[in-house]
Amino acid sequence: AADEEVVGTVKDQLAKLFEESLRVTVPDQTDTDPLIAACNPRFGDYQCNNAMSLWTKIKGTGSAFTGPQPVGQAIMTNLPRSEMIESCSIAGPGFVNVKLSRQWIAKSIQKMLIKGIETWSPKLRVKRAVVDFSSPNIAKEMHVGHLRSTIIGDTLARMLEFSNVEVLRRNHVGDWGTQVSISVCLRVCMHIYVSVYLFVSSDLACINIIVRVLVMDKCSSTYSKVLVYCILGNKVVKVSSVKHWYTVPDNGAFYKASKQRFDSDPGFKERAQQAVVSLQGGKEKYRKAWSQICEISRKGYEKVYQRLGIVLEEKGESFYNPYIPGVLEELGKKGLIEESEGARVIFIEGKKYPFIVVKSDGGFNYASTDLTALWYRLNEEKAEWMIYVTDVGQREHFEMLFTAAKRAGWLPPGDNSYPKANHVGFGLVLGEDGKRFRTRSTEVVKLVDLLDEAKSRCKAALVERGKAEEWTEEELEQTAEAVGYGAVKYADLKNNRLTNYTFNFDQMLNDQGNTAVYLLYAHARICSIIRKSGKDVEELKKTGALVLEHPNERALGLHLLQFAEIVEEACTNLLPNVLLWGQRRRQADSCCVKRLQRSCGNASIYLVFGQSTRYDILGEDSSHLQKDFDNYVWAH
Ligand code: ARG
Repeated sequence: AADEEVVGTVKDQLAKLFEESLRVTVPDQTDTDPLIAACNPRFGDYQCNNAMSLWTKIKGTGSAFTGPQPVGQAIMTNLPRSEMIESCSIAGPGFVNVKLSRQWIAKSIQKMLIKGIETWSPKLRVKRAVVDFSSPNIAKEMHVGHLRSTIIGDTLARMLEFSNVEVLRRNHVGDWGTQVSISVCLRVCMHIYVSVYLFVSSDLACINIIVRVLVMDKCSSTYSKVLVYCILGNKVVKVSSVKHWYTVPDNGAFYKASKQRFDSDPGFKERAQQAVVSLQGGKEKYRKAWSQICEISRKGYEKVYQRLGIVLEEKGESFYNPYIPGVLEELGKKGLIEESEGARVIFIEGKKYPFIVVKSDGGFNYASTDLTALWYRLNEEKAEWMIYVTDVGQREHFEMLFTAAKRAGWLPPGDNSYPKANHVGFGLVLGEDGKRFRTRSTEVVKLVDLLDEAKSRCKAALVERGKAEEWTEEELEQTAEAVGYGAVKYADLKNNRLTNYTFNFDQMLNDQGNTAVYLLYAHARICSIIRKSGKDVEELKKTGALVLEHPNERALGLHLLQFAEIVEEACTNLLPNVLLWGQRRRQADSCCVKRLQRSCGNASIYLVFGQSTRYDILGEDSSHLQKDFDNYVWAH
């Protein structure tokens, strides 16, 4: 029964009508899917584009048609009667333009209001998808690139979930690479290092590194844990000294310093490499140290996720480790893996370098893990769509991964059938100087600091508006968070993800621009008008007649009905910014855009309540409100 409720998009509903017409018009072309698209608003709302391609198929086959236009004409004539359609016309070589009925739009919106917008959700071809996003690396700082991945990935997951796809939200944490083994080595050897280096002050940096990784999240409880470790590790260590060292290192210094040491100190390098072997071999002491380090990093991420309202499940690189040999064996049997300079590789046509799946030292890497994760997602988790959200810099890696999977027969050839894998790349985050976004010390920017600043700026703006007197401290905090974090997300999502984007607090918090602040304000205004009207909204939805009188009201009504369609487009192309601009926006006809902008101002409130109540709500003193709406609501 729940399924019956789903009506599908406007396009779906039109497609059904055209399907019937095509069946009558060209009965022997049974595999013709109706091609429906939004059209230039000067000619109608939608068009059917089948005539031309049908004509190329049927001409010369003794068909009675004399050209694409008569085919279009016949498609139009054979359309079944429907309350959806007000009128049709033919344009160019057989395009059938459709103008939807005003009454049908009004009726549909009213239904949508009562039954919920979910009943119009698009029908996608997949049932289950993996969205692999965020995926920071243990023992390294979570940076703005991971912020983009987190925001974009979460949005894609929400879009798919709205479209009734079961989404496995996967945090593919880098918990098994070289950087992890280095920190494990430090941790395990700590008591030695501490005892030796405590007295050799020139190597304080090394202890700083250890402490740094253990207190990475700056959380005081972890901090005291560190102290305990140090005391346990060597009884000579004084708490105060640790505190002092801790303040010395910068963000990300841990990895940098340990890498330097790894590169310059052969003894350290050897110990680190041995640590990897011991860790991968499952040695208890190393396992324990490793999981402690992971746990500390994890606490840091979780704080960011919690602040941003992000839900995702960690299945890090280490999870797939036990499955790697089996998967590589399968690929080997299929003849994909070859020997090259001591490594085992998969050669990919058109690529300069092969896809290395076993390093020359016998170790597994990012590629072997990703091949295995893909295999696992397909075979164990039965996902039909695998979506990977990382910066565009990893495009090559994913191209090679997907090509290898196609060669293995895991994925079908081509890009249009399922199961399917997509890399969702995004551009860099830039600072105002047009260079990679950094703080003054040229290290990567810490995410928590960014979120803190967004929030504190919003709070300051609210206080400036006198909200501190009006609201409780809690309300102030909550609002500052909603607006601040919302602004950071929106500033990222409104751009095409492939472009680099400039991080600028002033711009993203501007209450007049295309920002979250502006949208939230518009929403709050609408809510306040509804509240002040004293009407029961649920009652009005059912009893208020919805009449779309003015052309602007019709345009807005149609726009609202197309919501699900735009979600569908955004899902298909994996482009969240489509949600903000929609199909109409990108059409050449800017006149329509302006019309929509203007119309949203006074029409949205009518649409909620219907014509019969609009004057009650806006009342005599509505003129100033209307003006406000024209100014504030167009972006909604
Ligand atoms: N940890 C990687 C990074 O920070 C991203 C992982 C993306 N997911 C994947 N399955 N490779 O660059």
